[in-house]
Amino acid sequence: MKEARADYSGFIHLHTFLINFSNPLHEIDLTFRNFILSLNMLKTICYKSKAKLNINIMGFEAIFNETQTKNDSKNITGVLVKRGQVFFQILEGESVIIDALYLKIKKDSRHTDIIELLNKSISQLSFKGFDTGYSVIEHMDALYGLQNYVINLEKKDTENSTLFLQIIEDLLTT
Ligand SMILES: Cc1cc2nc3c(=O)[nH]c(=O)nc-3n(C[C@H](O)[C@H](O)[C@H](O)COP(=O)(O)O)c2cc1C
Repeated sequence: MKEARADYSGFIHLHTFLINFSNPLHEIDLTFRNFILSLNMLKTICYKSKAKLNINIMGFEAIFNETQTKNDSKNITGVLVKRGQVFFQILEGESVIIDALYLKIKKDSRHTDIIELLNKSISQLSFKGFDTGYSVIEHMDALYGLQNYVINLEKKDTENSTLFLQIIEDLLTT
């Protein structure tokens, strides 16, 4: 006669699941994974372009206001510099957001001759500490302020700072 045996396998699976689920190591692992994922998700795009000649002061103001308001609402950091008819822009933030914005900027008829200088992943935001929000620079004193900020970034070996410094120095001498 067969002996009746209790089947504990379901209980053992549940027990293993509960131990793994509540294990602090498991949680640390998840936090670390999310941290790595969030690092991958940051990027910067940097370009130069030429403003259309028919844009007047009001037209530039409209671009600057739109840029500051929208970028602040999307946690985008960086700078938009206007020197004469030249635009120089640094955008940094979440990859998906930056890519979508750059597609729009490239199609904007208010500027031409876009030269892409940088389009890459970054491990941290370099311009988060520069201003209270997204920064627009039109005047020389503010451009010198940006130069000083980038000189400090370079001293700290911050990624891309040497390129930024070169471009800013070019803009200061044109
Ligand atoms: C030189 C230049 C820089 C711009 N930079 C930004 C920017 O950083 N953020 C932004 O939202 N729009 C920027 N714009 C405006 C965009 O090209 C576009 O008009 C805007 O994103 C439209 O947004 P919407 O389609 O969501 O209304 C810029 C335009 C120019 C000409």
